[in-house]
Amino acid sequence: MRRLAARSSSASQELEVIAPSKLAIDNVSKSFQSASGTVLALDHVSLQVDEGEFVCLVGASGCGKTTLLNIIAGLEKPDSGNVLADGKPITSPGRDRLVMFQEPALFPWLDVFGNVLFGLKLKPNLTNKDRRDVAKYYLELVGLTRFERANIHELSGGMKQRVALARALAPNPRVLLMDEPFAALDALTREQLYGDLQRIWEERKKTIVFVTHNVREAACLGERVLLFSPHPGRIQEEFAVDLPRPRDINSVDLAGYATKIIRSLRKFSEERREDGR
Ligand SMILES: Nc1ncnc2c1ncn2[C@@H]1O[C@H](COP(=O)(O)OP(=O)(O)O)[C@@H](O)[C@H]1O
Ligand SMILES: [Mg+2]
Repeated sequence: MRRLAARSSSASQELEVIAPSKLAIDNVSKSFQSASGTVLALDHVSLQVDEGEFVCLVGASGCGKTTLLNIIAGLEKPDSGNVLADGKPITSPGRDRLVMFQEPALFPWLDVFGNVLFGLKLKPNLTNKDRRDVAKYYLELVGLTRFERANIHELSGGMKQRVALARALAPNPRVLLMDEPFAALDALTREQLYGDLQRIWEERKKTIVFVTHNVREAACLGERVLLFSPHPGRIQEEFAVDLPRPRDINSVDLAGYATKIIRSLRKFSEERREDGR
């Protein structure tokens, strides 16, 4: 067998686990104009996310989850309020905060390896060999080593999301922002990804803000689950999930947490109905 050349010191340095960011969202409001009037997507939303915390935002469609994620990513600006990462205002997108979407948005003209390599292009301190070593590390982390030369159109939905995850992780961000990344996948594929994402979060020590409308998924992944309510978008309630990892989506204890969250979700929508809102 051919021996692999050792990683250079710059590649090893690039692969070091770096300190995750702390996020502070303070009194953030954001509205949009639409044909039917003004929509208050976020109404004075505040939240703190600790360094290395895994937080899930859960709520029905339209309650401002994506808007908040885009603001943390620096893709949208709030109308008022402050958003800080490690005490510094977020004013634009940055390599420290990378987003993964429901649609993997991969480059179809590049193979799996090329897609992961892409995010490393802007790292001037790395040689081409370093970049390849780093990309290989992340492909292994997400379990795609065997598929590194596969074309994107040959992959299943779950494998595409693994590529997207490796691509987001490769530049070693301090924060990973995930917007319903598993929503389009079948249940079995999702279960595997829940296990992998928990393992990767523990190994790579990222701050993760994960958006979903799936309560069980939120309880499986989050240290904390924040329940959002719509029109106007607000944080309605917060749940701490105190279960050991790796968590199994089918466990009875987890179902207990999910039931508690769903009850709160129902109670709130019934109160709104009675109020005629
Ligand atoms: N660019 C936009 N233009 C107009 N309305 C928008 C825009 N983005 C979001 N909205 C509205 O803001 C509200 C919150 O949207 P969004 O953040 O996408 O919610 P979620 O991700 O929770 O489904 C919705 O009512 C949506 O229609
Ligand atoms: Mg959304």
